[in-house]
Amino acid sequence: MRGAPNMPSQIRVTFRFKILLSVLIVVTTVVSLITFTMARMFHADKVAYVEDLVSLVSVHAASEANLRLSAYQDQLVTAGRVQDASNILGERRDEALWNLFTRTRGLVALRVFEDGKMVRLLLDSLATNAAGVSRASFLTTIARYTIPFDSIEVGTLYVRNSALSSLLPLSTIAVRIPRAAGRPPLMVVGTVDLNRSIALGRSSRAFDVFLVDVDGRIVSHGDARRTSSRERLAWLPPLGPGSLAMVKETERGGKPMISGIANVGIGGLRAGAEIPKSVAYFALRSLLINLIFLALGLLVAAAVVSLIWATQMTRSLSQLTHAAQAIGQGNFDVQVAVPSRDEMGQLAGSFNQMASELHGRDRALKEAQAQLIQSEKMAAFGQLGAGIAHEVKNPLAGIQGMIQLTSRSLSADSPLLETFAILEKETKRCRTIIDNLLKFARQENLEPEPIALEEVVADTKAILHHELSLHKITLETAIPKNLPLIRGSPNQIQQVLMNLILNAEQAMESRGHGTVEVKAAQRDDGFVDLSVQDDGPGIPRAVQARIFEPFFTTKPAGKGTGLGLAVTFGIMRDHGGAIHVQSEEGRGTKFILRFRMAGSHPATDAHPTKTPDPEAPTPGDERAA
Ligand SMILES: Nc1ncnc2c1ncn2[C@@H]1O[C@H](COP(=O)(O)OP(=O)(O)O)[C@@H](O)[C@H]1O
Ligand SMILES: [Mg+2]
Repeated sequence: MRGAPNMPSQIRVTFRFKILLSVLIVVTTVVSLITFTMARMFHADKVAYVEDLVSLVSVHAASEANLRLSAYQDQLVTAGRVQDASNILGERRDEALWNLFTRTRGLVALRVFEDGKMVRLLLDSLATNAAGVSRASFLTTIARYTIPFDSIEVGTLYVRNSALSSLLPLSTIAVRIPRAAGRPPLMVVGTVDLNRSIALGRSSRAFDVFLVDVDGRIVSHGDARRTSSRERLAWLPPLGPGSLAMVKETERGGKPMISGIANVGIGGLRAGAEIPKSVAYFALRSLLINLIFLALGLLVAAAVVSLIWATQMTRSLSQLTHAAQAIGQGNFDVQVAVPSRDEMGQLAGSFNQMASELHGRDRALKEAQAQLIQSEKMAAFGQLGAGIAHEVKNPLAGIQGMIQLTSRSLSADSPLLETFAILEKETKRCRTIIDNLLKFARQENLEPEPIALEEVVADTKAILHHELSLHKITLETAIPKNLPLIRGSPNQIQQVLMNLILNAEQAMESRGHGTVEVKAAQRDDGFVDLSVQDDGPGIPRAVQARIFEPFFTTKPAGKGTGLGLAVTFGIMRDHGGAIHVQSEEGRGTKFILRFRMAGSHPATDAHPTKTPDPEAPTPGDERAA
């Protein structure tokens, strides 16, 4: 797929943004679901409650109005009876009729008609005067509201709005009183202020409670002006006598209302209650607004929290990225902070572990590489040395023979004798070097046999005893009696021992005293360790790296050839063993020779140099060859 990376500027959506977005989506969904469900439930509940309440208030108002109006009806009937009673004399009749005014609240005028003609008029002048209306104008005005006497039936009450002025929001009520046969019925008409007499639900501040007549005109209302203006409610539903109450959504002055209407059951009147929707659903609205604010707050909080969280998380990720890049460049020392105990923390932890493991492997690899280079170098030296030795060995033998022959033919007092002696000695030295080189390059055949290290050590000690005592060097040996036999050539092992002990002696001879310890110990991996330790000056680190190289020496010319340890190395290699060095400057040097036990199988190629020996004493650095 070559196309993908070449696509024109793809938008890079960061991890942080993705987290933020998903958190916001989830929070928004959850919050809006909760808000929506709550609002719906609350709305349904509240609507039912408000409708119930409106209907209840209207029913209650209706029953109150019913009580009042039946009382009016009774008073009017009583008034008719009093007027009609023949046994009551004029003055007492007047008194009885006037008494009605005190018993009937809000009654302003009382008229009695017979055959369409007014036969009696009583008027509460106090009320008309208080309203600033003269008796005459009051009478002419109320006379204008004609009453359909014929349609009023016995036992029913006629009620109509007949307002005079804003101060007198009056209504007309009337009853028919039947009389004995042949006489026309009496019509008793009262003019009454129903606003004053019926205190419909005045205690409620939220509800408007009112009473309307058959025409739909308000006859009683908390706000008297609505009666005096003869306001007519257009929305009134036709209400059958069976239905007790109903609730409707209406409108007044552009404001939506919830209205309830109930039959009073007298005079065709109806009681109503209305409440503005804004008032009825105030709690619902404020709940909604609160919910919206809460939701917004939650959203902001979620955004902040998820941003912080995402930042933290991506910070760890970018740390990991940087660390991985550093490791890629070979810097294994990086460690990332473990931020928490969650998966991120686990990732950081395993990353750190991986880094340190890689570090370890890198170190091991480098060491192995160095060892490989070293042994390659040795092999090259060996080959080179063997070639040179071969070429030089025979001419050297010839030279030596010629020197011996020539010196023998010289007379005893010849001054050349001394020169020839030196020539012979130096040629011998050359031959020794050549022999050693050949030994290092494995030119000699090894005939391995089981040998006791104890004997080899004892022989070596005997040979070197004199030499060592000259320089006040003590040689201590500690070889366990039950040490198993090893495989090898006694001569070569003796040479190895001599090389090591003489090196130790040479290192300490300038000081004038010293100790060399030769110890042996059996290992449980089929090998035996033989160590040669001195308390001399030790070998500096840089020198340690090179001591096994052929011709490497720190000694003055003529004193050291630099072949001792190279030969030792070659012998140990040929024995299937190894040699290690541990040395610390100022504290001494210890060479450890590792031999294969006589009984053990040589094929097990457990080359000791490859596995660092944890039991080996480590006074300082350890070098193995
Ligand atoms: N026991 C020792 N103490 C200090 N230095 C030593 C010891 N053994 C070996 N060396 C160092 O290792 C070098 C190489 O030793 P070797 O191969 O025997 O060559 P040579 O003895 O001819 O110098 C020596 O020159 C010396 O610097
Ligand atoms: Mg030496």
